[in-house]
Amino acid sequence: MPTKTASKPASKTRARSADAFPRTIRNTPAGTKSVVHVGDCREILAALPEVKRQQLDLVFADPPFNWARDYDRHRSGDAWDDKKLRDDEYCDRRDADLPLGQSRSFTFQWIDLCISGLKDTGSLWINIPDDWAAEIVVHCKARGLSMVNWCVWHFRFGQNTTSRFINSKVHALYFCKDPRKRTWNPDPILETSDRRAIYGDPRTESKQDGMPPGLRVPMDVWYGPYWGRVQGNNKERRNKHDNQLPEVYLHRVIAATSNPGDLVLDPFLGSGTTGVIAHHLGRNFIGTEFSKANATTACERIERGPVRDFDGVRGESTAIHPRRRAPKAD
Ligand SMILES: C[S@@+](CC[C@H](N)C(=O)[O-])C[C@H]1O[C@@H](n2cnc3c(N)ncnc32)[C@H](O)[C@@H]1O
Repeated sequence: MPTKTASKPASKTRARSADAFPRTIRNTPAGTKSVVHVGDCREILAALPEVKRQQLDLVFADPPFNWARDYDRHRSGDAWDDKKLRDDEYCDRRDADLPLGQSRSFTFQWIDLCISGLKDTGSLWINIPDDWAAEIVVHCKARGLSMVNWCVWHFRFGQNTTSRFINSKVHALYFCKDPRKRTWNPDPILETSDRRAIYGDPRTESKQDGMPPGLRVPMDVWYGPYWGRVQGNNKERRNKHDNQLPEVYLHRVIAATSNPGDLVLDPFLGSGTTGVIAHHLGRNFIGTEFSKANATTACERIERGPVRDFDGVRGESTAIHPRRRAPKAD
């Protein structure tokens, strides 16, 4: 006979467990899993076995920018206050090359934890605006990372202003632990070269750079269809998130700099874009997010999967001029 306790309404039991973190989302076809934690990433990362054992293959971080952005759009009251830190507490350039463990700045503290968990083959990506990019580059170099690319994510709808140039970019800083060992898989993200797309130049069809004919690795300035900021009636847009990165951005990062089955970490999960793509591409994933409300919707999004179809990414063209010459017939 069931006891009184055991016969509690199932809905209540479900409600409690659905509310609990850390939460695991299994990716059945690929046998991988995504785990989402709630809290300050500095505390969670310091305690994570995967960080202590240096098991991270890839870290992608899109931190709060200390711009007084509203991270409490769910009105849950548990969100990160994006202006609680003074700028010198957030990222103090005088702190950039202090010995490991002695950084006082929020930014260098979380970066150091991420670096300490990286495998030798691992990479660290940081999405960051002009304000802090220079300090972060100096810090990561001081920690012994190698800079692979200083990429720029370019978007057309920046905040309008008349007193200076309109800001239309964020930096995508790409570092690795050991340049001789880093994971690099450009094949799924190759694009059609301008020589093929615009000029019909036969030289691109017989080039000997190890890439397939007519294709190239994308350039370090990223733009194009689906690369805009996620706003307005964009199909990807998640209610109550205004800091969402486009899915194509994370697809490029994860596909090119990790392998299926690898472990990807995002310390600032937000609406969950990194988790959605990592999960979809058969990577294991750990996300940390300060706001429980954000983490809850991120989990739902990871379970649901991406909005975009990435099958057509390989071979796309980002040419900004129309075709000028038809390709030569065989
Ligand atoms: C810029 S948003 C990330 C957006 C994300 N890349 C996306 O595509 O949705 C930064 C996120 O970091 C979270 N956050 C801020 N401080 C944090 C901390 N100390 N630990 C964990 N998460 C934090 C905020 O709540 C916010 O959701």
